[in-house]
Amino acid sequence: MRTPIVAGNWKMHGRLEMARTLTADIALSAPADVEVVLCPPYPYLGVLAEVLENRSVALGAQNLASEAEGAYTGEVAGEMLAEFGCRYVLVGHSERRSLFGETDDEVAAKFCRAQAAGLQPVLCLGESQAEREAGDTEAVIARQLDAVLSRAGVAALTTAVIAYEPVWAIGTGLTASPAQAQAVHAFIRARVAQQSPEVAAGVRILYGGSVKADNAASLLAEPDIDGGLIGGASLDADSFLAICQAATTAQ
Ligand code: PGA
Repeated sequence: MRTPIVAGNWKMHGRLEMARTLTADIALSAPADVEVVLCPPYPYLGVLAEVLENRSVALGAQNLASEAEGAYTGEVAGEMLAEFGCRYVLVGHSERRSLFGETDDEVAAKFCRAQAAGLQPVLCLGESQAEREAGDTEAVIARQLDAVLSRAGVAALTTAVIAYEPVWAIGTGLTASPAQAQAVHAFIRARVAQQSPEVAAGVRILYGGSVKADNAASLLAEPDIDGGLIGGASLDADSFLAICQAATTAQ
């Protein structure tokens, strides 16, 4: 049995007051049988860790440095995130890959750095519209996943989460259909199973890309969809909580 997990990726939205209110509202009503993770912008982590004291909702960051320490102006180390109460960190989000030029290798390095710092990486994988149209979805996902498996080893996935986020569905209002998403999730699980059936059976694979309160239940009902990575809808407590609730009932 895989415990569902729903993570909110706030991206660079909102200001401190919104962050406080949103966090408090979500913490108050988050269902107990779903792991709920909030990924606010870096500067809010310390304040929100206080808001979440004695609450079951966890904190995650949206990115981390691929190095542990040193002259890397503007970067933030995984150990620093852990000090501020983070338990999770997104790695390889498509916006990091496409806007900030993160390569598969760099993403794999960040994945390993996250685990070395005691954080659970949420490894984001996804194909672009052009790649899907060219029939390359599985090849792209395999390449992105293999970069991490070859560097970290399959056992590393026992303390990590995978998120499938088709790039064409992020922030566009275009969601993959439950069947389209399930097909890619099953492909990911099968690829992990080639190296370890046990790890594959246990690893949680989240779907992300325009998940909303009204489409969450049908996506989460699919057997290989273990939760969601939520962008836009995570900025509204009611919408986000409705998605968390859908993850409870999908169990
Ligand atoms: P979206 O974003 O839910 O707004 O599509 C998802 C994400 O980028 O993680």
